[in-house]
Amino acid sequence: MYRTHLNNQLRSSDLDLEVTLAGWVHRRRDHGGLIFIDLRDRYGLTQIVFDPQHEKKTHEHAESLRSEYVIQVSGKVRKRPEGMTNTDLESGEIEVIVDTLVVLNEAKTPPFEIDQDKMVGEEIRLQYRYLDLRRQRMKSNIILRHEVISFIRHYMSEKGFIEVETPMLVKGTPEGSREYLVPARLYHGSFYVLPQSPQQMKQLLMVAGFDKYFQIARCFRDEDQRGDRQPEFTQLDMEMSFVEQEDIRALNEGLAIALTEKFMPQKAILHKPFPVISFHDAMNRYGSDKPDIRFEMEMQDITALVKDCDFKVFAEAECVKALKVENYADKPRAYFETKLTDFVKEHGAKGLAYFIYTEEGPKAPILKFLDEKTVQAITDTVEAKTGDVVFFAADRWSTACEALGALRKRVAEEEGRIPKDKIAFCWVNDFPMFEMSKESGAIGAVHHPFTRPKKGHEDMISTEPLNALSNAYDLVMDGNEIGGGSIRIHEQALQAQIFETLQISPEDTQTRFGHMLRAFEYGAPPHGGIAWGIDRLIMIFANEPNIREVIAFPKDQKAKDLMFGAPSPMPAEQVAEAGVRIVEEGK
Ligand code: AMO
Ligand code: AMP
Repeated sequence: MYRTHLNNQLRSSDLDLEVTLAGWVHRRRDHGGLIFIDLRDRYGLTQIVFDPQHEKKTHEHAESLRSEYVIQVSGKVRKRPEGMTNTDLESGEIEVIVDTLVVLNEAKTPPFEIDQDKMVGEEIRLQYRYLDLRRQRMKSNIILRHEVISFIRHYMSEKGFIEVETPMLVKGTPEGSREYLVPARLYHGSFYVLPQSPQQMKQLLMVAGFDKYFQIARCFRDEDQRGDRQPEFTQLDMEMSFVEQEDIRALNEGLAIALTEKFMPQKAILHKPFPVISFHDAMNRYGSDKPDIRFEMEMQDITALVKDCDFKVFAEAECVKALKVENYADKPRAYFETKLTDFVKEHGAKGLAYFIYTEEGPKAPILKFLDEKTVQAITDTVEAKTGDVVFFAADRWSTACEALGALRKRVAEEEGRIPKDKIAFCWVNDFPMFEMSKESGAIGAVHHPFTRPKKGHEDMISTEPLNALSNAYDLVMDGNEIGGGSIRIHEQALQAQIFETLQISPEDTQTRFGHMLRAFEYGAPPHGGIAWGIDRLIMIFANEPNIREVIAFPKDQKAKDLMFGAPSPMPAEQVAEAGVRIVEEGK
């Protein structure tokens, strides 16, 4: 038997027990002939003591122990001397005086310290991920991840959902991202595609009559990396039959509340039931389709107030938005002119105008272009008072909203106006069905092409597609999009019409989506669903800045696995067998 106890198991009730422990040398201290070692395993630490007075040979052997050696020790539990109790450790009242030592494996000096919470470069952490995962922070994150996923599985099962695994080798899935291709060895020139999500499979499971499905599903998207994106990530995917948007929202709201109460008990949920905000309102009021509503700072629209003023930038803009920041007038003006102006420019704005409200009224370089009545009308609309600053962005509607929305978040963050002990969820719905690509002018689905139009908007699909709204919804938590879904189309004719609007030819439709259209001909029930980004959710629960910190083996920001060295060239023979010929870059 390698061990009788785990390393956080022994207590003062175990005094004089003969025990065997195993684990890693976490920390070592030498004191006047005595060697103290914190022995570590997944469960915690136990202090073990080598005393030359007690066992001379064992003590000599212990001289050779270094950090991260794997050892086994046997000895007796004893109380730590008066004043030596470590209240940070669960086993802090006892220690084990060692009789025998076995070195199970030696270890090279690790490239970074395991026993300390020091900043270590991410590259080296990812290269030696198995050592990084030994560190307390990463270990807690991975254990938290397990607990969250177990909780979800249990919750969903209790609600009558069944988990069904769906294949990884599939055919193209139209969710808007580039796909990973897998060459088919048996059919040269043909490819499997790794699923961007189990979208089509879960709909087909509804056609199959499973009624309530869920899956902790791996998804693959070959898109550019950001802090909250990975090329492969995990979703809680679900689908339900005979439901409307309200049913799906209610179920997911219940899950969101249960999860938050369990994993963030110290935080209070601000709005219950979760507010439902239309996409248009979310943009207008918060300048984001994933608004952080832990704080107010809502924007105002002043387009109508300034349409006849002499300031051309305002008068000629499609939209002028105003953002009031209370008690901000003591910031240096240079800060607005440089830092904040540069910031909104990064978000697409052409400039940043502002009023500073002093005792003598508003002050601003642009005041000279505005008559008193207009200034008063703006002041009244935003309800500005002395000490406030009002920022303006004049642009296309979406740009003006997004730029000021980004500013809203930044200033709130910098000024500490986001209550960190609160959580705010909301739903965003009534998204447009389609959007037009800025580059190509082509029409694409905002969510995915299986999304149902909002009730009453069905006919607009062919007459005015860009004005049609969808029956889709996103779940937003503290300004993060943690989930998205929709009520689906279940009728063959309506689905075919969507493909037509997306300008997918009938032949293309047949080759790409024939299987879906065919399935809809055999009694598909009304259905809908949603998928949560599990990595993002756990990132928030773990209070981590990016999702790599909650994934055991993530890719780096250039989509590489630094530990394995993937992607990597393959032997020519294997490449040929897959029917692939390599074209050198640039040729
Ligand atoms: P969607 O594409 O909105 O919907 O994805 C659902 C949720 O998955 C998370 N997510 C990601 N997380 C990490 N890295 C990524 N690259 C990434 N992309 C998305 C987000 C997002 O809200 N099939 C539909 C769902 C449905 O309609 O039921 C879908 O995949 O948190
Ligand atoms: P200008 O007339 O270009 O010197 O601009 C006067 C002020 O208006 C400056 O503070 C600019 O940052 C600001 N400004 C310029 N363009 C815009 C815009 N599109 N929206 C808001 N403010 C702007």
